[in-house]
Amino acid sequence: MSETVITDSPKEASSYILDGKVVAFPTETVYGLGASALDQDACQKIYSLKGRPGDNPLILHVCDWEMASRYASIPEKYENSMVSLTPGPITFILEKKNDLLFSAGLSTVGIRIPRHRQALDLIRASGVPIAAPSANRSGEPSITRMEDLKSEWLGKVDCILTGDDPEIGLESTVVDLTDSVPRILRPGYFSVEDLSVYFPGIVYAEELVARAKSPGTKYRHYSPNAAVYLVEELPGNPSERIARIGFEMANPAKTDKVLGSNLEYMKELFAFFRKCDREGIANIYCQLPRAGQGEAALLNRIQKAATSI
Ligand code: TXA
Ligand code: MG
Repeated sequence: MSETVITDSPKEASSYILDGKVVAFPTETVYGLGASALDQDACQKIYSLKGRPGDNPLILHVCDWEMASRYASIPEKYENSMVSLTPGPITFILEKKNDLLFSAGLSTVGIRIPRHRQALDLIRASGVPIAAPSANRSGEPSITRMEDLKSEWLGKVDCILTGDDPEIGLESTVVDLTDSVPRILRPGYFSVEDLSVYFPGIVYAEELVARAKSPGTKYRHYSPNAAVYLVEELPGNPSERIARIGFEMANPAKTDKVLGSNLEYMKELFAFFRKCDREGIANIYCQLPRAGQGEAALLNRIQKAATSI
């Protein structure tokens, strides 16, 4: 494939979705690589473009709960909570109820209603759920800036829908509602404290707890080429091949990023990783996030990025 159409028109982009093509588009969390979730071949294209293992399912993006209820069973006891939290940076794992839907062989599907205007308009104009993983190549940092999206996918995807860059910067919180106890499979903008108001008794999945205790046991994810270190205090006297991101650092250089809050940390992290790779940085030092909002999600992404296997 050689030419990528770049458009700010959700209607135009939807014609590619309905034609079995792949469209890169913005959401409020990170950029996504989307295809019709009713088109198995189009979904397979996403896997080959990303180099993604075939057993890792895709999130299905819908524009409202009416559309969601055509494809997934909505648990009655959680319905009000799900409605209150959406559109927004959260994905619910539900039982699948439509056989046409792509689900990587599982009986469940991840359903997300994004709150980015362009994403919602794209889904509405398409009239079908859009299966979309984050727009990075498998194992690499997610994409949160249009320039990074273009440098990765121009000439490789059929269409890029433009719009505001993601305002959050880390992927959605994934909540599994298919079991008796609601579980967070991936932390994000919403913390377990935020969500316990909506889903009493919600817990982090055991894998997440084990992973946090033993950061050496995970597979590679979100990783730049540079080695990533998570530290309490950032080192001083950086050399040209070192870059730092955090709240307090001595003599910040052009390659460093000084932050004011965890929210800013979330928004900047992946773009920072990609910039470091462009500039040939060898070692990236990330300061521990602050306690509170975003802490669990930032720790999760940085610890995974810090794993080199
Ligand atoms: O913010 C986001 O969620 C972004 C934007 C584009 O919406 N998407 C995203 O997709 O992060 P992806 O594919 O990078 O991550 C989806 C995560 C994976 O960890 C996947 O295993 C999990 O959701 N997932 C999807 N469907 C699932 C299912 N049926 N059961 C369990 N986990 C599921
Ligand atoms: Mg991803």
